[in-house]
Amino acid sequence: MTGNLLVQNAMMALPNGIVEGDLRIVNGIIHSIAPNGGLVAKKDEFVIDGTGLHLLPGAIDPHVHFRDPGNPEKEDLESGSRAAAAGGITSFLDMPNTVPNATNQVELEAKIALASKKAVSHHGFFIGATSNNVADLQSIDGMDGVCGIKIFMGSSTGDLLVHEQEHLENIFENTNGIIATHAEDENRLQSRIPQFKHRTDIAAHAECRDIECALIATKRASALAKDHDHRLHIVHLTSGVEADWLATNKGDLITTEVCTQHLTFDQDDVEKLGVRALMNPPIRYTEDRDTLWKRLKDGTIDCVVTDHAPHTLDAKSIGYPNAPAGMPGVETSLPLMLTHAIDGKCSVSDVVSWMCAGPAKVYGIEKKGSLIEGYDGDLTLVDLDTRRTITDDDVWTKVGWTPYAGMELTGLPMWTIVDGVPVHRRTPNGSFMGEPLVRPGQTGRVLRFS
Ligand code: DOR
Ligand code: ZN
Repeated sequence: MTGNLLVQNAMMALPNGIVEGDLRIVNGIIHSIAPNGGLVAKKDEFVIDGTGLHLLPGAIDPHVHFRDPGNPEKEDLESGSRAAAAGGITSFLDMPNTVPNATNQVELEAKIALASKKAVSHHGFFIGATSNNVADLQSIDGMDGVCGIKIFMGSSTGDLLVHEQEHLENIFENTNGIIATHAEDENRLQSRIPQFKHRTDIAAHAECRDIECALIATKRASALAKDHDHRLHIVHLTSGVEADWLATNKGDLITTEVCTQHLTFDQDDVEKLGVRALMNPPIRYTEDRDTLWKRLKDGTIDCVVTDHAPHTLDAKSIGYPNAPAGMPGVETSLPLMLTHAIDGKCSVSDVVSWMCAGPAKVYGIEKKGSLIEGYDGDLTLVDLDTRRTITDDDVWTKVGWTPYAGMELTGLPMWTIVDGVPVHRRTPNGSFMGEPLVRPGQTGRVLRFS
């Protein structure tokens, strides 16, 4: 479904700066951008008064873990994509550690079919690598809706894992398309876990899954990419040393990302939040957070993502070290980053390049991520003047909590638009969560990757 829509008098985040004006979408495509305004409403179009709002391209979250199929009670493609839309995310890329794992064409086709019925935003899916599925990885090469190959080099949630050199070489040598690696070294991890078994304090997590663990795997994956001339994307960078190392070693083949939570939290927050802040790879230290910001700003890090991992508080209540790792975030990432911008950490245009244009470039998603005539009509209109305190009750994710509970956020999307169709709306004095405007499957398409 596509729409005709006119936004008037908004502060538009265009590729070369923020200017006030109007933007028209015709049949789902950005038809005209008028920096000085003056576009007159036509009778067949939905008109939004953007006065006082910033108009951004719909954001792209290239790293979410919805639980569909397998655990739809935690997050299905409907709730996950609604949460995304509420947060200004109009496209998401979903990881393969669902149940069953998405490791072959049949499972991917099943996920794509589910998404076409349930999602309200654009969607793509990773295929998971195993030690013996190279033929499956080859079989989906170029398939619509499949964004890349995910390799867990260290074990995390689920049982996907490839860490032996010969298996990794085989995958890098015999596949095309982008490989996204969870870079933690399995051998080091397994050698350290017994030493930390007696620890029940949350600080032990970052000590056990330490920086060396991440650095070894990041260097290994980078060497594989170079040896086999293969595109590599290193997911959720967490340490300053990795970021500094990549700044001089990344070259043209390698891209990388950072999570909102690694830009926001440090060891003190982990102490306060406890298992809510438990994730793999861990939240680390103040100096890591500072270096991640520095390397994001200097272009070493290409995009900002969430690693949205919906675990219930009930499952987490078992405490460290047995609580599951991961936290929800798909609906808070854009407001959180915009809050950082308003607080002076970066500019609004930086956020657009890290959360819209950046992911589109990394994964080769054409005509998305920028406000340019001829691009897809995916938009979000955010309010940068108001701050509201978020609580666990204010979220669309089925797991019903947020690691940012208690924080004052600005940049809440007042409107989110997919292919020219309004899919989610908030009102200035209305509920924090706002309201959905479309039925499951009504909007959003399977993404293509070049
Ligand atoms: O903390 C994490 N949670 N890290 C991962 O790698 C997976 C994710 C999940 O799926 O729960
Ligand atoms: Zn992940």
